[in-house]
Amino acid sequence: SRTAALRGRFVTFTGNPFTMPPEDSLHVEEDGLILIENGKITQCGAYDTLRAHIPAGVNVTHYPDSLISAGFIDTHVHYPQLPVIASWGEQLLEWLQHYVFPTEAKFSNPEVAQTIARAFLQELLRNGTTTAAVYCTVHPESVTAFFQESEKLGTRMIAGKVLMDRNAPDTLRDTAQRGFDESQKLIDTWHGKGRQLYAVTPRFAITSTPEQLDCAGALFQSRDDLFMQTHLAENEDEIAFVKTLFPDRASYLDVYDKAGLVGPRAIFGHAIHLHEHDFQRCHDTECSLAHCPTSNLFLGSGAFRLFDAVDPRRPVHVGLGTDIGAGTSFSLLSTMGEAYKVSLMAGKQRLHAIQAFWLATAGAAKALHLENKIGTIAPGMEADLCVLDPSATPLLALRSRDCSSLADLLFVLMTLGDDRCIKATWVDGRMVYARADREA
Ligand code: GUN
Ligand code: FE
Repeated sequence: SRTAALRGRFVTFTGNPFTMPPEDSLHVEEDGLILIENGKITQCGAYDTLRAHIPAGVNVTHYPDSLISAGFIDTHVHYPQLPVIASWGEQLLEWLQHYVFPTEAKFSNPEVAQTIARAFLQELLRNGTTTAAVYCTVHPESVTAFFQESEKLGTRMIAGKVLMDRNAPDTLRDTAQRGFDESQKLIDTWHGKGRQLYAVTPRFAITSTPEQLDCAGALFQSRDDLFMQTHLAENEDEIAFVKTLFPDRASYLDVYDKAGLVGPRAIFGHAIHLHEHDFQRCHDTECSLAHCPTSNLFLGSGAFRLFDAVDPRRPVHVGLGTDIGAGTSFSLLSTMGEAYKVSLMAGKQRLHAIQAFWLATAGAAKALHLENKIGTIAPGMEADLCVLDPSATPLLALRSRDCSSLADLLFVLMTLGDDRCIKATWVDGRMVYARADREA
């Protein structure tokens, strides 16, 4: 059997830092050992206690001066938009027209799809991200290419074919029936194959007819473990357009709700401009919101009200998303740092560093209803890990030396850190990325 062992300081969550003092939600093992067999963690705890359990012949990968975490989880990202990142000057609807649609049109070519899928997955691993909920394009080939590349790496990925049957260029439109048939075929091929999972993916209410949304709802309801992902209430112009397209609906969320698209494993990107009754409905239905702070700042979309969303009286599941290519970084560390700033802009409560790390790991896993598989370091969990280097740059080294608590150190990492802090990434019990160099 395939065995591995990691030694070093590791951190993992045993509770929810939004419902208890953040420090109490975190377990820290100062000199820890993580034992892995066939891609799963079998034992973890203090090195001195567990060292006797290291199987003969297994060499221990030691990470002194590092911090081992569960791999990061990106709950909203578009792989075909890798080439669109950092495109100047527009807000959402114009940005889609000018930059996104022309780029996505190229993904009818499977070679383009494969090249970009590969580059995208490498970029995730360079950033310590081991699971993501990923939008492909309208072309089924784009989904096949993505899952094929993910399968080679052994990453647990959630992805799906974008559905668009109106308000998009000819080359990017399907029809309600064709979108249904193509999605069905991809579900049959990929959902539950190895670590791959399928998400029914209507882009948003503007680009799908009511018929297509109903078809997406039928697909989503057809199996009890499928995902659904779409965009919700991101931008004022978008919301106004949705109102004219669906005048009879009580809210933007209600457009999706009436189509059967709201429930557990439904992931709504952005959800910036939601009303209280929408949050209540999200809580009641156990769907999830993907908070994408770098994207919301880049497109000038608005400030997500995180603490309203997770209000303990009716908490809604929330994860963090990079939303590449509207987002400006693949790094969940950077995304946490921006989420902190957005929390200050949006209200009185300040995101705590431990809460931010939870949103990128255990909290995201809960939002995806995958908390029994990923997001924490514990026996039985899948062995997806990232190894953080708190002194990756001279500035980080200088600043982290001064930290008197783990919370301070995590805050420094999320505020100053990025891909340079990822020393190694492990997927399915294998080291799939190791940072080669380090600044002197
Ligand atoms: N709304 C509909 N499509 C998109 C997209 O590709 N990116 C973002 N940020 N918002 C969207
Ligand atoms: Fe998006």
